[in-house]
Amino acid sequence: MKLFETIEVALGGRSYKIYVGSGILSTIGDRVKSIPRCGRKAIVITNPTILNLFGEVVRESFLKARFEYHFLEVPDGEEYKSLEMASKLYNELLAVDAQRFDPIIAFGGGVIGDLAGFVAATYMRGVPLVQVPTTLLAQVDSSVGGKVAVNHPRGKNLIGCFYQPNFVLTDVTTLKTLPKLELKAGFAEVIKYGFLQGEEFLSFLEKNLESILKLDEELVSRVVSECCRIKARIVEEDERDFGRRAILNYGHTIGHAIEALTGYRRFLHGEAISVGMVCAAFIAHEFGLIDRSLVDRHIRLLKRAGLPLKLPELDANAILNQIVVDKKRRGEANIFVLLKAVGSPVVVGISSRIVSKALEDVRRLD
Ligand SMILES: NC(=O)c1ccc[n+]([C@@H]2O[C@H](COP(=O)([O-])OP(=O)(O)OC[C@H]3O[C@@H](n4cnc5c(N)ncnc54)[C@H](O)[C@@H]3O)[C@@H](O)[C@H]2O)c1
Repeated sequence: MKLFETIEVALGGRSYKIYVGSGILSTIGDRVKSIPRCGRKAIVITNPTILNLFGEVVRESFLKARFEYHFLEVPDGEEYKSLEMASKLYNELLAVDAQRFDPIIAFGGGVIGDLAGFVAATYMRGVPLVQVPTTLLAQVDSSVGGKVAVNHPRGKNLIGCFYQPNFVLTDVTTLKTLPKLELKAGFAEVIKYGFLQGEEFLSFLEKNLESILKLDEELVSRVVSECCRIKARIVEEDERDFGRRAILNYGHTIGHAIEALTGYRRFLHGEAISVGMVCAAFIAHEFGLIDRSLVDRHIRLLKRAGLPLKLPELDANAILNQIVVDKKRRGEANIFVLLKAVGSPVVVGISSRIVSKALEDVRRLD
């Protein structure tokens, strides 16, 4: 067992720590015990996949720390991130007589993190929450920053709030059982942080890509820690997403359009974001912000990671129309996060003509 790093998210009274390491899942009981005024009943919300893989370690840890514990299971899948499932969980919490200070442990990927986080934020007006992320996407992104939500039939994440956890416990060894496709998709978000953060981290990723994807524990711990640190600094500046936090959406404008156009079933989020970043790079180039070598740097790295660069079957008009639909729904102008250079993102309005031209360039990629 090795605790690699502890990262602080400084948010005044809502500050918390992110513990990153290998084999640290077994410390969950003692760590939860250290939450001030913590109740003695730990509620672990998870899914059957995670429970089968890691349930025993968590069970033993809570037993050792002398907690009464309950595992509440949610079936595996995005479709269960719903108000109906939240409501079922409220019933189960009441059935085990969970009280205001009893902690909820969100143990799983982003789906469990968002759903269990939403339940923790709303049950009895809010109970302690601990995020224990087990996918790369959840470790570098969704477990940090306090966005919790469920989906609505009209759209993803439409019902939710900001609710920071008491701490995040990230054990990178859990990634060893993650399907390779999920790992690669999560890595798209890591690459996103690389382009947003600056030369040092991006070069590190370029140099060590293969070993990271082979899950060298030291390297993965370093990568996850760095991503959490980047996100923490942005969230500290803009906790409720009124400004700076928007840069985390690099690659997401077109990524979201692709996901929506394909009914959220064909592509994993990270795969769509990969294509979205390639498009954003071409748009930045077309807009005169970056030269072609930075576009090519995106292409090379994403390709090496085994991520998609383009979707030949989706035409530019369909994507453009979908962007317009998304924008209308969110009441925003035609806004993109683009790079001026590695580590220098800007948020700018872009004309449809430039987007079209860039999408055409992407379509022509080999
Ligand atoms: N709150 C935020 O800030 C934020 C940010 C990004 C994404 N999200 C949300 O995250 C969700 C996607 O999360 P995700 O990509 O983690 O998907 P997920 O939670 O569905 O997990 C992907 C799959 O991997 C399995 N799995 C998880 N950990 C495993 C492990 N260690 N070993 C083997 N299998 C494992 C899961 O059971 C699931 O089948 C979406 O709902 C999205 O909206 C939230």
